[in-house]
Amino acid sequence: MRATGWQLLTLLPWLQHGLAQDDTVTYTDKASGIVFNTWPNTYMTFGMALPSNALTADATEFTGIITCSSPTQGTGWCGISMGGGMNSNLLLLAYPQQGQILTSFRWATDYKPPTVYTGDAKLTQISSTINSTHYSLIFRCQNCLKWKQGQESGDAPTSEGYLVLGWCHATTSPTNGACPNSLSVRQHGNQGIFPARFNSAVANRAYTSWASKATATVAGGCGGSRVPAPTATTAKAPSPTTAKAPSPTTAKSPSPTTAKSPSPTTAKSPSPTTAKSPSPTSSCAKSYTVKSGDYCYLIATNNGITLDQLKSYNPGLNCDPLQIGAVVCVRRS
Ligand code: HEM
Repeated sequence: MRATGWQLLTLLPWLQHGLAQDDTVTYTDKASGIVFNTWPNTYMTFGMALPSNALTADATEFTGIITCSSPTQGTGWCGISMGGGMNSNLLLLAYPQQGQILTSFRWATDYKPPTVYTGDAKLTQISSTINSTHYSLIFRCQNCLKWKQGQESGDAPTSEGYLVLGWCHATTSPTNGACPNSLSVRQHGNQGIFPARFNSAVANRAYTSWASKATATVAGGCGGSRVPAPTATTAKAPSPTTAKAPSPTTAKSPSPTTAKSPSPTTAKSPSPTTAKSPSPTSSCAKSYTVKSGDYCYLIATNNGITLDQLKSYNPGLNCDPLQIGAVVCVRRS
């Protein structure tokens, strides 16, 4: 469902903030020729190309690019929410796995590990690359601009000229990643919501021919057809950390080098290698030792506190990766 006027009003200051930060960069993928509108941030870049009439009639599909940084080659995962927030929107998760990039559509009703999306969204791959700093996937996403799960439904109407999207980025790889439908992930370390404003390059007459390049169904190692994704070895993946990534071709204004970090209200330190153990202060009344399978939100709710409280009790706490064995404070004296 589209946000109501009241909801938009409450989002306005924040959206305006986002508009100043996240500008649209037009990027042409050399190998496929696809022209994308992209929205880079420090951790990842997401982009879309739409059918030729998408700015006047709501599209049902798009061709997408998702490029995510990974400090260690072939690790981590990243995701997009087609409706902005994590909950009650179609989520797309992508991650490198044994030389391929696998994907999973997910659904969340709370800030907990999302379950598998049961709607008819379909992803087919055009190309993928994995290098020492990033992984990148170009794909076609059908039935991805409307979603429904149980009683809940929503959409991302392209005719409005912009979408409100969400992103998240994690450095810890999914567990059981060979099986996209039964994998589990720990909480991402960084996330945000951004306005994805379209410029005229987003809708293109060549869309149909671009979409027809999406012939690979990459299902992972758990059955189903396993067609390897054509790897665009020569194509250089847009690189979000250098933010140089999408080289603006016909690009409107902002130089991608000016791309800045996403919403400061949600973005956190990018460097997992510098992750420190939290340092519960002496005023801690109850501590908890992190065990395998824990994530910040779970620890917080299990102890009757909010995620923000958990973070404030534990300066320096890094939720991705959350260190097993670390001692965190869950109640203040
Ligand atoms: C163990 C799994 C996950 C947990 C525990 C989790 C938890 C959370 C929490 C607590 C927040 C709010 C953070 C804050 O405001 O500081 C959040 C935000 C977000 N999450 Fe997740 N998440 C998980 C998986 C995912 C996945 C798989 C996706 C998408 C593919 C996703 C997309 C988002 C987005 C877009 C936001 C920002 C928008 C919002 O706050 O609703 N999350 N998540």
